Amino acid sequence: MSGDLKWNKIFGAALGTAFVILVVQQASGLIYHSEPPEKMGYFVDAPDEAAGGAAEVELPPDWGTVLPTADLAAGEAAFARCQACHDAHQGGADKIGPNLYGVVGGPVLHRAGFAYSDAMTKHKADVPTWNYDALNSFITAPAKYVPGTKMSFAGIRDTQTRINLIAWLRTQGSTNDPIPAPDPSRQPGAAAPAEGAAPAEGAAGAEAPAAAAAAPAEAPAPAAAH
Ligand code: HEC
Repeated sequence: MSGDLKWNKIFGAALGTAFVILVVQQASGLIYHSEPPEKMGYFVDAPDEAAGGAAEVELPPDWGTVLPTADLAAGEAAFARCQACHDAHQGGADKIGPNLYGVVGGPVLHRAGFAYSDAMTKHKADVPTWNYDALNSFITAPAKYVPGTKMSFAGIRDTQTRINLIAWLRTQGSTNDPIPAPDPSRQPGAAAPAEGAAPAEGAAGAEAPAAAAAAPAEAPAPAAAH
């Protein structure tokens, strides 16, 4: 009988430990999974490495070189990210955003009937035309390039994706817009972007281990149960 009692204690201790582990797992689950979404609204394409800011330092593409070799099919596929808000077909309706047929090389505010933001109206005074550089800057980070724009889109950070997209958009009503001649000052090597972002310090989630460490103190030590 005393043997049974001993086993009872051991099982009890094991059960207790399992219980504590479960509680800790649940608690850390709550910690890890309770972050609210960062932004509300339409789509948010998370900009990769937004903090690094490397994209801002980058030279603008040399359109005369990159447009003729752009991947139009990939550009059309990339337009899926715009399609919820924009139609690019000739005669297509305005949606949440204006129809984009002919926008490449066209005037800013190119759709007469569309209710543009004040921000975009002001932008037109600075840069009246959607030339390749302007489009590229806008699509990279709309709210940065036109602060206050009502285009709720985080932007496309990948340069080649933007090039493909702009090249495809050009085929939608803008093939008369000339492709500029190659520009040596924009070719790779003309300027080097600043050194990469400093290495991130510390490990992520430093709080969690502390919380976990507090709980095991309560776990019964099997050795003491005799
Ligand atoms: C969430 C909806 C939404 C998405 C997604 C979106 N746009 Fe827009 N877009 C808008 C709105 C709204 C405007 C009008 C902006 C303003 O008035 O400030 C706009 C304006 C524009 C303009 C200026 C048009 C003009 O007539 O001056 C261009 C160019 C443009 N968008 C391109 C794109 C491209 C390319 C994509 C995909 C990479 C995209 N947009 C994704 C909503 C969107």
